Amino acid sequence: MAIIQNWLPPSRENWDFICTVWAYFPIITTAQWVLDWYPQGKTSTESRWNIDGKIGWATMESAGFITLLYIMYALPRELGIGELPWGNWTMAGCFVFHYLYRALLSPLYLNPSMSPMHPLVWLMAFLFQITNGISIGGYLAGYGPTTQHYWAARSEYMFVGLVIWCWGLLGNMFHDDDLREIRRAANRKQVREARESGKPIQSVDKVYMVPKNGLFKYVLHAHYLCEWVEWAGWWMIGGWAFHPGRNFLINEITTMLPRALQGKRWYEKKFGKEKLEGRKAVIPGLI
Ligand SMILES: NC(=O)c1ccc[n+]([C@@H]2O[C@H](COP(=O)([O-])OP(=O)(O)OC[C@H]3O[C@@H](n4cnc5c(N)ncnc54)[C@H](OP(=O)(O)O)[C@@H]3O)[C@@H](O)[C@H]2O)c1
Repeated sequence: MAIIQNWLPPSRENWDFICTVWAYFPIITTAQWVLDWYPQGKTSTESRWNIDGKIGWATMESAGFITLLYIMYALPRELGIGELPWGNWTMAGCFVFHYLYRALLSPLYLNPSMSPMHPLVWLMAFLFQITNGISIGGYLAGYGPTTQHYWAARSEYMFVGLVIWCWGLLGNMFHDDDLREIRRAANRKQVREARESGKPIQSVDKVYMVPKNGLFKYVLHAHYLCEWVEWAGWWMIGGWAFHPGRNFLINEITTMLPRALQGKRWYEKKFGKEKLEGRKAVIPGLI
């Protein structure tokens, strides 16, 4: 049963169209190079329209994996495919696993606090997720490889890709957690002071410090870098022909790179260049 006839799940023609349009997404991100306005996270602004950070992240980031799972369920039935091969499910599993962490576990359980976001940021991320979910979902659910033989023939590449994906994910989680620890430590300090001097405990919202562990020694957005490694490994699992994986990686880099450079400017303004000790924005020694 289709949710939107020919779009969810997509017909072959509509899926081709979405994949073609999606490949041009980097053009939209050029706006991020010229505008400094990005009302989310460190650079969030006060607005009566703002969405709570945790709710915003959970809802916008869930859209992609839910779309993908729905297409994995519905499209094979429409195309008369009995069972998708294990390679397709491995790739879908990696994607869903990442987003269970990113969309649910991180914002709702792990992150001590998240700044509010403007609805426009939410909408852009939501549309990113839906488009990406359709692009990847269509490929994995029937318009890409549908035989066991295809995956068996490239099992070595799959293995290497999986290892890279796994290290990238672990690196992303490690550096995310290093940022969380800054606020957890601030909270512990406040609780201690409250116990000793009776001072009321204040919120740790918007408490920032320069992160120092792991790759943060070299770059201010080590979590971004690790996420790129993760999706590069994932693309490798699927192979050159897996164009939705390539588009996803390129689209992530083109939207996160200007954000990381903006983040570096924010760190310089808040803490001063000397405190950053030559750290780059996202690629050690380069950018
Ligand atoms: N931003 C993107 O376009 C994008 C795209 C795809 C994937 N991702 C992934 O999503 C995750 C989060 O991305 P993000 O852009 O929100 O990262 P971020 O700006 O670094 O924020 C991550 C979390 O850490 C807190 N935080 C950031 N810097 C801090 C510091 N110096 N001291 C203490 N706390 C700090 C933030 O709090 P506040 O919210 O209060 O600032 C937020 O809760 C990353 O792993 C990234 O790889 C991001």
